[in-house]
Amino acid sequence: MTVQREYTEGSTTFLSADVDHYSQEKGQPTTSMPVFYNPRMRLNRDISVLMLSAYLTETPLKNICEPLTGSGVRTLRYLNECEGDFKAKMFDANPQAIEFAKRNLERLALTDRAETRVGDAKVLLLTESRESRFDFVDIDPFGSPAPYLNAAVQSLDPNGGLLAATATDMPALCGVYPKVSLRKYGGVSIRAPFVHEIAVRLLLGHVYRVAGSNDRAMAPLAVLSRDHYIRIWARIVADRRLSNRQTTNLGMIQYCPKCMRSISVPIGASVKEFEHASDCDGKRQEAGPLWIGKLYEPKFLDAATGILQKLNLSIYHRKMADIVERITDEQALTGKTFIDLHALCDLHNITAPKNVDVIDGLHEAGHSATRTHFSTTAIRTDAPADVVAEIVKTIVSSR
Ligand SMILES: C[S@@+](CC[C@H](N)C(=O)[O-])C[C@H]1O[C@@H](n2cnc3c(N)ncnc32)[C@H](O)[C@@H]1O
Ligand SMILES: [Zn+2]
Repeated sequence: MTVQREYTEGSTTFLSADVDHYSQEKGQPTTSMPVFYNPRMRLNRDISVLMLSAYLTETPLKNICEPLTGSGVRTLRYLNECEGDFKAKMFDANPQAIEFAKRNLERLALTDRAETRVGDAKVLLLTESRESRFDFVDIDPFGSPAPYLNAAVQSLDPNGGLLAATATDMPALCGVYPKVSLRKYGGVSIRAPFVHEIAVRLLLGHVYRVAGSNDRAMAPLAVLSRDHYIRIWARIVADRRLSNRQTTNLGMIQYCPKCMRSISVPIGASVKEFEHASDCDGKRQEAGPLWIGKLYEPKFLDAATGILQKLNLSIYHRKMADIVERITDEQALTGKTFIDLHALCDLHNITAPKNVDVIDGLHEAGHSATRTHFSTTAIRTDAPADVVAEIVKTIVSSR
């Protein structure tokens, strides 16, 4: 018999296998648990509830689908915490997971709003969307979402649907296994201080190409990056002309580890020469092909901020509000990759000043600059890394 435990996230209480009973390390689940539930992904789910609520302010939903549902916690939270009376389909290959999902639906009196199936996610996405396509699909797998993306895109309503996907295969996406990234995401990853941004862009680039191969366009609405996972939310719509135009958002990121300059080069663009800082004799590296377009949709983030301001934040992860604020700050400056000030200061052998002082210094010098949610030690700016380094040196020497 499965040792179970009652958990609460947001305003939703549910049952799952007791993580502490089945794990070696407290609060750290293993894939061999009878039913998978990871309490450390609560922040991911809190923000996912917020993002779906933001989407709902503009787009009413009829059918949502979570094809890798585990205990069902994510969909239970969508049904219980988001506005609207949309219906849900929840799948999992593990029969015990679906047993838990069913019991959780009963306990929350949500059985008339959800259906469950045991089986393979890819097959069920296609068969269960035949009569009525989904208007939101949430892919939250072990590791890479890549195997599920084609079925997910095909299961979405061609008139417009929301796709969310989490990836936890960070070594592939962050440059440890560039060949794995190339075969799974169609782009090479590199090691750089902004690897998590490269990871997000590799995933978005892959989603764009899967959408494009199905004559659909893709517009990112938001992205989320934490140490051990990344997540994207994108609107997918059947529009081959728009998809053609969006090819300019595919490209390479070139980066020099010696001067820390980076540029994005669209595929097929006339060759743009990489300009190093004046005294740099470093060699540039190249990541991609990946998505070099916008990461956020401002209207969508405004809606998320509006909802956030009305929430009782005490029931959510303590970092949620700060992350959403940082995302909102950085959204206008995602044309350039972020600059990690600790990496920059290590390079120049200086002590890193406070981010806020560097941002003020850049503003005074006539540049745009913001915080980023990708890292608390990083900033976004339209200034090249060596210009940021000069401003940092001025701040440090005036102390
Ligand atoms: C990371 S867990 C899902 C966690 C859940 N989304 C949450 O937020 O708690 C991945 C789930 O996918 C299921 N799974 C793995 N391969 C599958 C497949 N091919 N089809 C359906 N389910 C699968 C596993 O049984 C597991 O429950
Ligand atoms: Zn250089």
